[in-house]
Amino acid sequence: MTTSSNPPNSVTPDQTSGMWGGRFSEATDAFVAEFTASVQFDQRFYKQDIAGSIAHATMLAKVGVLTEAERDDIIEGLSTIRSEIEAGTFEWRIDLEDVHMNIESRLTQRIGITGKKLHTGRSRNDQVATDIRLYLRDEIDDILKLLERLQKGLLGLAAKNVNTIMPGFTHLQTAQPVTFGHHLLAWFEMLVRDSERLQDCRKRVNRLPLGSAALAGTTYPIDRAYTAELLGFEAVCENSLDAVSDRDFAIEFNAAASLIMMHLSRMSEELILWTSAQFKFVNIPDRFCTGSSIMPQKKNPDVPELIRGKSGRVFGDLISLLTLMKGQPLAYNKDNQEDKEPLFDAIDTVRGSLMAFADMIPALVPNIEIMREAALRGFSTATDLADYLVKKGVAFRDAHEIVGKAVALGVAEEKDLSELTLEQLQQFSALITADVFDKALTLEASVNARDHIGGTSPKQVEAAIARAHTRLEQLYA
Ligand code: ARG
Repeated sequence: MTTSSNPPNSVTPDQTSGMWGGRFSEATDAFVAEFTASVQFDQRFYKQDIAGSIAHATMLAKVGVLTEAERDDIIEGLSTIRSEIEAGTFEWRIDLEDVHMNIESRLTQRIGITGKKLHTGRSRNDQVATDIRLYLRDEIDDILKLLERLQKGLLGLAAKNVNTIMPGFTHLQTAQPVTFGHHLLAWFEMLVRDSERLQDCRKRVNRLPLGSAALAGTTYPIDRAYTAELLGFEAVCENSLDAVSDRDFAIEFNAAASLIMMHLSRMSEELILWTSAQFKFVNIPDRFCTGSSIMPQKKNPDVPELIRGKSGRVFGDLISLLTLMKGQPLAYNKDNQEDKEPLFDAIDTVRGSLMAFADMIPALVPNIEIMREAALRGFSTATDLADYLVKKGVAFRDAHEIVGKAVALGVAEEKDLSELTLEQLQQFSALITADVFDKALTLEASVNARDHIGGTSPKQVEAAIARAHTRLEQLYA
C-alpha cells in the first residue's frame, strides 16, 4: 500500500513545497510540522535574522551574484517586513517552521522571484548560527550595563558604610568584626569577575558563521570578511563544519550566567538572613517585599528568595545545553534547534535578577546600631586579644590558649571580653595591661588594625572604593 496521497492530518502541499517540496511525495504531517517547528520561540530574533539577510544580500551584490537592483529590492522588502513584525501585523505560520522561512516566504510574496534569490550561497544552518550570535551579543551588552549599574549601587552603599561595624562570620558563627562597606565590596568583587567572564565570552560569540552554508562552504565567490564587517563581527569562523554545528559560545554564556546567578543567590541568602527578626541587620523597602495572606505581621523578602530559587533554573539551562551538544557528530543536527529555549531562559532570568538587584541595593537601609550590638556579642575580638599578647612576646599558640580560657570565663559570666575587668583578664596573663581595652578589645581597634590592602579597616575600605571606581571605568571603557 502506498501513502502517496496526503493523509487527513497533513498540511497542504503548497505550504511546504516552496521550501523543499520538490523531493517530497506527501506533505508533512500536521503534528510533525508543529513538533519540528521553532517559530514559536525563534521569532524572538527576527531583527537579527533580517540584519543578517541584509548583510548577506549586500555582500552578494558586491561580488556580482545579485544585481544592485535585486539587492535594493531585497533590502527594501526586508525592511518592510521588519515594520510589519513590529506593528504586529505579520502572520507567523507554524507550517513555515522557523523565523528564517517565515521571513523568506513573506519576502517572496512581497517582491516576487528576487526574494527567492536571497538564499543563494547560504543555508539555514549558517543563518541560524549567525542569528543566535548576533542576538546573544546584543543581550550580553545589555547584561553588562545592568552589572555596571548594580556595581555602582554597591559602591554607593559601601561608601556610606565605611565605618559601619558588623560581625563577620565563618560557619555562620560570629568570627571577627568587619565593616559593612567591606562586606559589600566582597560582593562587588564577585561581580567584577562575572563581568570579565561575560566580556571574554563575547569575544568568542562575536565571530561570523555565515558563508559556511550547509556545512562545507559554498561554490559562490563570497566575501566573508565583508559580511563580517557589515555585521560588526570581529572575525569569521575559520572552519565551516565547526561554525554551523558548535554551540559552545552559548554554553559558555550559560556558564557565565550560572556564576552570576550563583553570586546573586549567595547575596540573596545573606539579605534573607539579615532581614529576619533574628538578625535585623538590614531593611528592604516595602516595594520589594510582600506580605502573608494569613499572618498579618509578615513582610517577606520575596525578591531575594525568588532570585535564590531562580539560580536553579539557570544551572539547569547550562546542563541542558551541555547535554544537547555532547553527542552530536559533525556537522549541523536538528538537535541544535533545542539550543534556543535554554539560552533565552538563562538570558531572561539573569537580566530580571540583575535588574531587581540593581534597583534594590541602593534602597537597602542598614540598622547600624543593631549590627554593632551583634558584633559586640560572640567574642568577635578574641583574635585581637591573642594578637595583643603575641605583640608582647607570647607565642601565638600559647596566646590562643590564654584567650580561650578568658572566653570560657566570659561565657560563664555572660559577658563580652571587653566587659570583663582588668583583674579578671590578668588571671590568665600578667602581660595584659589597661591598654588592652583600647588596643584590642574594642570593635574600632579590631577593624582599624586590619590596615593593609584587602583588609577591613575603614581607611582601606575607603581606598578600595576609590580604586573600584577607576576599575569600573576601565572595565566598561
Ligand atoms: N530552525 C532551525 C534551528 O533552529 C534552523 C536550521 C534548520 N536547518 C536544517 N537543516 N533543518 O536550528
